[in-house]
Amino acid sequence: MDNQKLVVVMVGLPARGKTHVARKLSRYLSWLGYRTRLFNVGSYRRARLGPGQSAEFFDPTNESANEARRAISAEALEDVLAFVGREGRVGIFDATNTTRDKRALVERRCRAAGFDVLFVELVCDDPIVIEVNVRATKTLSQDYEGVDPEQATRDFRARIEQYERVYEPLDESDGRFVKVMDLGQTVVAHRIHGYLESRIVAFLLASRPTRRVVWLSRHGESRFNSQGRIGGDSELTSAGQLYAENLSRFVAQHSDADAPPLVLTSTLRRTIQTAEPIPYPKTALRALDELNAGVCDGLTYAQIVERYPNEYTSRAEDKLRYRYPGGESYEDVIQRLESVIWEIERSVRPVLVVAHQAVNRALYAYFMDWSPEVCPHLDAPLHTVLELSPQPYGCEERRYPLGPLAPRGQPLLGGRQR
Ligand code: F6P
Repeated sequence: MDNQKLVVVMVGLPARGKTHVARKLSRYLSWLGYRTRLFNVGSYRRARLGPGQSAEFFDPTNESANEARRAISAEALEDVLAFVGREGRVGIFDATNTTRDKRALVERRCRAAGFDVLFVELVCDDPIVIEVNVRATKTLSQDYEGVDPEQATRDFRARIEQYERVYEPLDESDGRFVKVMDLGQTVVAHRIHGYLESRIVAFLLASRPTRRVVWLSRHGESRFNSQGRIGGDSELTSAGQLYAENLSRFVAQHSDADAPPLVLTSTLRRTIQTAEPIPYPKTALRALDELNAGVCDGLTYAQIVERYPNEYTSRAEDKLRYRYPGGESYEDVIQRLESVIWEIERSVRPVLVVAHQAVNRALYAYFMDWSPEVCPHLDAPLHTVLELSPQPYGCEERRYPLGPLAPRGQPLLGGRQR
C-alpha cells in the first residue's frame, strides 16, 4: 500500500447525497485498511450554534452568518488536517464547498499541510430525486426536530435556493476531481493519477444508489466441518444438503421473478453444491474462495496447536494480519474481495453470496462498517442467511436461521467497535 495522505473534499448543492456518498467512501476505504474519517460541517454547525438555522442563515449576503459559517468550516478543516497529520490516511471534508474561492482556500490549506486533495462533486438536477432526498433525510435531521415535515421541506428548498445563487460547479481550474452526475449515470474524472484516487474513482463508478438487498450465506455443512477440519474442498453432509434445499426455498420466497438475484459462489465444491438447487444462473468466483490456510489446510485446530504451536499463537495475537505459511491472512482476503464489492455495488438486483466463514466475515464487515481489527472475530454461523439492506445512512441487518444446525436466538453483536 502506498503512503499517500489525501483529503477528499465533497462538493455540491444540498440534498444531492454528498453525506451518503462520503459515508460509503469512508466505509470502503476503512475496510481496505486506509485509516479514514469523515468530518461533516453540518454537525459542527449544529454542535456550535445548535440545530434549527432557517434558510436565511444560508443567505450568501447575510454577513454575520457568513462569518460564523466560515469559522465553523475552518474549524472542521483543521480537524481533518490534524487527523490526517496524525494516524489518518484519508480525511473526508463533507461540506457544500460550492464556490471556486472556497475550494481554492481549502486546497491551499491542505497543500500547505502537505496533503493531496481530491474534489468529489455530486450533481443532480432531477427535481424528483431531490424532493425524495429532502423528504427521506433532511426533514428527519436535527435541524427540523419538532417541525412539521411540510414546513421543513419548504425551508430546505429555500436553503437550496440560497446556495444556488452562488454555486459554481467544478471545472478544469479546480485541479483533481471526480464529478458524479445523475446518480452515477455519468462520471467525469479529471487529472486522476495516483493509486488511491484511482481506487476511489473505480468505487464511485461501481456504486449504484439502490436499495437492493444482499444475502450472505456460508455453504451448508461440509464433511470437513463435521470433522472440525479447516479448508479443503470437501462435499456437503446430509445436513448441508438439507440447508441447500432450505436456502433455495428462502430465495424463491424472498425474490421476485422480474428481478432474479445475482447468485455468486466460490469455486469450491461446498458452495457450488449449496447453491445448486437455486433455479437461477450462478457465477463461481475464485475471489470468494475460503481463506487459504496454507500448511494448515485440512488440519483441526487441535492439530495446528500440536504441530505448529508458534503459528497458532501468532495467529491468536493478530488474527487480522497473520498469514498462514504458504497461505493467506484476513488482510489478503479483504484485498481480493475488492472486485466482489464492486460487483455487488454495481448490481441493481438482489445479490446472494454463498461463500465461507472468513470471506463472509470480510463482506459483512464492509456492509456493517466494522473495523478490519474486528472483522476476523465477527459471528458468521452456518445455516443462517444474513440479510443486509443498505439504507441512506447505514445498513439494516436481519438473520434467518434456516436449520438444521443454525444457532437460534443467538444475540447479534452489539455496538460498533471502531
Ligand atoms: O472452519 C471453517 C472455515 O471456513 C475454515 O475453512 C477456515 O480456515 C476458517 O473457517 C476460518 O475461520 P477462522 O479464521 O476463525 O479460523
